[in-house]
Parts: sequence; structure tokens; C-alpha cells
Amino acid sequence: MHEDQDPEAAFRESVARNVDGLKQDPSMRRQSDEWLLNSLPHRYSYNFRWMGRPLIQYPQDMLAMQEILWDVRPDLIVETGIAHGGSLVYYASLCELMGHGEVVGIDIDIRAHNRAAIEAHPMFRRITLVEGSSTAADVVAQVQRMAAGKKVLVVLDSNHTHDHVRDELAAYAPLVSPGSYCVVFDTVIEDLPRGLYPDRPWDVGNNPKTAVREFLAAHPEFVVDTDIEAKIQITVAPGGYLRRL
Ligand SMILES: C[S@@+](CC[C@H](N)C(=O)[O-])C[C@H]1O[C@@H](n2cnc3c(N)ncnc32)[C@H](O)[C@@H]1O
Repeated sequence: MHEDQDPEAAFRESVARNVDGLKQDPSMRRQSDEWLLNSLPHRYSYNFRWMGRPLIQYPQDMLAMQEILWDVRPDLIVETGIAHGGSLVYYASLCELMGHGEVVGIDIDIRAHNRAAIEAHPMFRRITLVEGSSTAADVVAQVQRMAAGKKVLVVLDSNHTHDHVRDELAAYAPLVSPGSYCVVFDTVIEDLPRGLYPDRPWDVGNNPKTAVREFLAAHPEFVVDTDIEAKIQITVAPGGYLRRL
């Protein structure tokens, strides 16, 4: 660092160098991939809670989301796939800390006990729940109305088949504001061994990453932010952090 350099700029530069180093380290890549694969039989992503609600995520992805939300400062976060509400509460709590923003969660099946717990949660004041398929026309229209005129960030984490994510991208990516993100979770399914989810309709060749590939080919206004996945190394969303130019 030069003596006259702004320390904040210098720190950002040093992190950028770290990230470049990680991108060029095949051993770290291999070990991170192996770690993730070994974590799956342990159902590792189910181990965590945020402010009491189960959060079905890897911690590294959530820290990346925190950095994105702070940088983007969206007015509205749209998330498909609520489950127990942990990620909704997480994003809402960050909005609360920032003093800005709200979250709309969409799920085809909001179980009564989950709804009751989310509605009773102190972060519920920043949350709207929508029950229905994320690709149903009335649900999409409702979210479009909520998003009108707002700075929007989208998170897709519902049904992980190619067709469903393709349709979600068609419905929700246009809402994403320039400079903001559409984060597509579970793109990692494409990189895992075939047949890992025998009771699910998704597999290698039919998953969020195949939908993202198709989407990006037709939407040059979105790019994969490869710095994020290099930075965190362990992620269920490789190639899924899409930034709108
Ligand atoms: C992986 S979980 C969501 C996890 C949650 N985002 C979290 O981080 O804790 C997937 C959720 O998607 C929902 N889902 C499945 N198909 C859907 C659809 N067509 N539309 C909306 N939600 C759907 C399921 O009911 C389930 O609750």
C-alpha cells in the first residue's frame, strides 16, 4: 500500500487479489468441491437457524448475500421458496439493520406451523407471504405490482427443475434493477454426481444451472459474478449469482 492510498480502497484491492488467487488455485477448488460433496449425506444445509427459524442454506452463501444486500440496498427482495422461513427472516433482519427494505416470499405450500411462526416473528413487519406457485400468472402479477418503481433483488430457491427455473427467470428476472442481482440457488446440482436426488425431479441435465445457461444466452444484460463464488469457495450457487448490468 502506498502511504497516500485510501485505506478502504487498499483493503478492497487486497481482497480482489485474494479472490484472483483463489480463482487460480485448482487445489482449493478441488478441496472445496470435495468438502461440499461430503457434506451432502450429512444434510449439512439443514443444520442452521437464523433468529430461531431453520435456514436451509450454506453459511458462505448467506455471508455473500449479506455483502450483496449491503451494496445494493434493495427496496424489495423477492424470494421464491420459503420452507421454514429462515432465509426470509434472514433477509428481513438485514433490511431491519439497514433500516431499509422489505421482503416478499412465495411458496406453493406454506405449512400452518411455518406461517404461524413467521407471522409471530419480530421481523415479520418487513415480510409479505404469498402462497401459490411462483410461476402462476396471478402470483407473478401480484409480485410485479409490489415491485413497481422499486429497486428489486430476486432470489430463486423453490422447485429446482430446469423448466420451473426457466419460467421463474422469465417472470422475475425482468424485475431485477440494474446493478442488482438475481441469485439462483442449487445450480450446484449440475456439478454433482448423477442420481444424487432419486426422490426429486431434478438431476444432472435438468436443474437451475441448465436453466441459467439458457437464460444467459438470451439475456446479455445479466452476467455471472464469478468473484462471489471464488471468494466464498463453498456455494450451492456456482454460476448462479447473476448481476444485472
Ligand atoms: C429449498 S426450500 C426453500 C428454502 C428456503 N429458501 C431457505 O433458505 O430456508 C424449497 C421450497 O420451495 C417450495 N416450492 C416448491 N415448488 C414450488 C413452486 N412451484 N412455487 C413456489 N414454491 C415452491 C417448497 O414448498 C419448499 O418450501
